[in-house]
Amino acid sequence: MTVTQDAYDEQARLWNGVAGRAWVDTQATLDQLFRPLEDLLTQAVAAATQAGDRLLDVGCGTGATTLAIARLHDGQRHCIGLDISEPMIEAARARAAREGSAASFVCADAQRHVFEPASFDMVVSRLGVMFFDDPVSAFANLRSAAREGAALRFIAWRGAADNPFMTTAERAAAPLLPNLPVRKPGAPGQFAFADPRKVRSLLEDSGWTDIDIQPVDLPCALPEKDLLGYLTRLGPVGLALEEADAQTRAHVIATVRSAFDAYVHGDEVRMTAACWTVGARASSASATPGEKTNA
Ligand SMILES: C[S@@+](CC[C@H](N)C(=O)[O-])C[C@H]1O[C@@H](n2cnc3c(N)ncnc32)[C@H](O)[C@@H]1O
Repeated sequence: MTVTQDAYDEQARLWNGVAGRAWVDTQATLDQLFRPLEDLLTQAVAAATQAGDRLLDVGCGTGATTLAIARLHDGQRHCIGLDISEPMIEAARARAAREGSAASFVCADAQRHVFEPASFDMVVSRLGVMFFDDPVSAFANLRSAAREGAALRFIAWRGAADNPFMTTAERAAAPLLPNLPVRKPGAPGQFAFADPRKVRSLLEDSGWTDIDIQPVDLPCALPEKDLLGYLTRLGPVGLALEEADAQTRAHVIATVRSAFDAYVHGDEVRMTAACWTVGARASSASATPGEKTNA
């Protein structure tokens, strides 16, 4: 088995298991927290598309962004959300049914799914494209699904150093949890796109052009009452707590909760999401996917 296959299996297992269930259970909290990212994407979509356009939301999770795009201009765009996680896609479909949305959802691996060629007018993602075991082949696959001239727009995290909120729990819990999963620099995961040169290079190598990568610092918030649910279910600490005994669990939760005090303002928790907003275009001037452009 190759390292790439191992990385794929790990991501598929996580998102269909503990991480996927945690995202489903905390969906309302996460959607509130990441609403500013959703707004940034929907503004980009509104500016770059027109009535009748078909959009693909990659790594759509429980569907917040897919549904927001489908609501734009009274439902004049058709948005398809695609995600590798069965439980998250199930939750997204249930939400779409509840709100009578025309958005549709596919459970598949964006890197390997056989898309109808040139069938999308825009490809978007909120935090859903940093998990591929082979990002160049994944973005080449998305490029082939995009029609000539289609736009790509996604939001990805900058580095961990720029996002201290995101690593507060693991730094506080590390002395108490010897089995805390360790983040591997550059490996598929939350901060895999921290280096903008790497992002530019992989987009060039996968056949995208007009690449534009800009930093954005987005103020985000969640109610203080939801903080415990957030920090005990998500990220490396959420994973480790699944297996911790009751005493360790209580100790970790108390320690980690107080480490977040600096972010608590009355009944609200505030943090800044330090992200890249990345744009590109599917153009025939691009190199054959996989070739270097040297441009
Ligand atoms: C951080 S979550 C973001 C979810 C959603 N975009 C949101 O903002 O709520 C990352 C998502 O990427 C999905 N994902 C990871 N690898 C994937 C792959 N190879 N193909 C499709 N989706 C994938 C995960 O299942 C997860 O739903």
